[in-house]
Amino acid sequence: MSFRLQPPAPARPNRCQLFGPASNTKLFEKMAASEADVINIDLEDSVAPSDKDSARKNAIQAINDIDWGKKTLSVRINGLDSPYWYKDVVDLMEQTEGRLDLIMIPKAGCGEDIYAVDALVSSIEAAKGRDKRVGFECIIESAAGISHVEDIAKASPRMQAISLGAADFAASMGMATTGIGGTQEAYYMLREGQQYWPDPWHWATAKIVAACRTHGVLPVDGPFGDFSDYEGFRAQARRALTLGMVGKWAIHPRQIALANEIFTPSVEAVQEAREILQAMEEAKARGEGATTYKGRLVDIASIKQAEVIVKSAEMIEKV
Ligand code: COA
Ligand code: MG
Repeated sequence: MSFRLQPPAPARPNRCQLFGPASNTKLFEKMAASEADVINIDLEDSVAPSDKDSARKNAIQAINDIDWGKKTLSVRINGLDSPYWYKDVVDLMEQTEGRLDLIMIPKAGCGEDIYAVDALVSSIEAAKGRDKRVGFECIIESAAGISHVEDIAKASPRMQAISLGAADFAASMGMATTGIGGTQEAYYMLREGQQYWPDPWHWATAKIVAACRTHGVLPVDGPFGDFSDYEGFRAQARRALTLGMVGKWAIHPRQIALANEIFTPSVEAVQEAREILQAMEEAKARGEGATTYKGRLVDIASIKQAEVIVKSAEMIEKV
């Protein structure tokens, strides 16, 4: 380990972030009653320009009036290239009473984007005497965003989570696809006449995870567009989990149970992790730093790997 220790990410479950447009008020109660850990009320791309003002009012009313229980409550504001975002921030901060947990900043392109929102939010918090500091999450969904993801992750102590937004990311990168996440037909390897489909989101996912883990931020996989393709969602979510992400968005209620299933450590995985910890305890008592578990090497690094699973399970049990 470097002399500089890796900071822990926020210790709260983030298995599923459920989105709903703020223009569709009938969804709010359903979102509040759902099994998602995080709720994202959207003011951005699922709201038509003509509805921006009314959607903002709807979101404020919903934050103040609806019982969101123990969920993390987040609002996605409009992008910093739009004429809407400043009013999103000002009205949300001035007209809500402290239930709001996070502001989600879309299309973050550089650390200064986060700084700008931080300056505005900090000023309103001071002016209004708000005790609770609102946190930030943002979406990496552009070439600039992925290039500057580390600056973004460390741009503010408010930063709690970063998601990969596959659709806008693909457009910004000039990728030849209209799919939102998942396998892409034309992205394949060919060997002895057999096609294999690697993961076109792998690099961006791993880059986001590294930036997040360096700075104590939760890495999250974004939307999977085809909400009728359950196995496709599971496969995408499992890849994200394997690379270190903690959860995934749901853009339809059908996807909530799938995300919770994949991002809740299985009974078998927890059992195995506990057995590895036990095996290492016994090795330590014998004065050994390495031992054998089910025919394979486990050593001091295995303790840290096993603890990732056990700690995640223990945190989720508390929900
Ligand atoms: N949250 C909570 N409930 C939702 C929901 C959501 N995001 N989306 C749909 N539902 C509800 C519907 O109201 C309906 O409820 P009912 O059975 O009581 O009538 C039920 O789930 C089934 O919905 P369905 O008819 O299959 O979908 P739809 O045609 O009403 O809506 C979408 C489909 C994609 C438009 C809608 O799911 C949606 O707006 N998703 C979020 C989009 C978004 O926020 N995008 C931005 C992030 S990428
Ligand atoms: Mg987007």
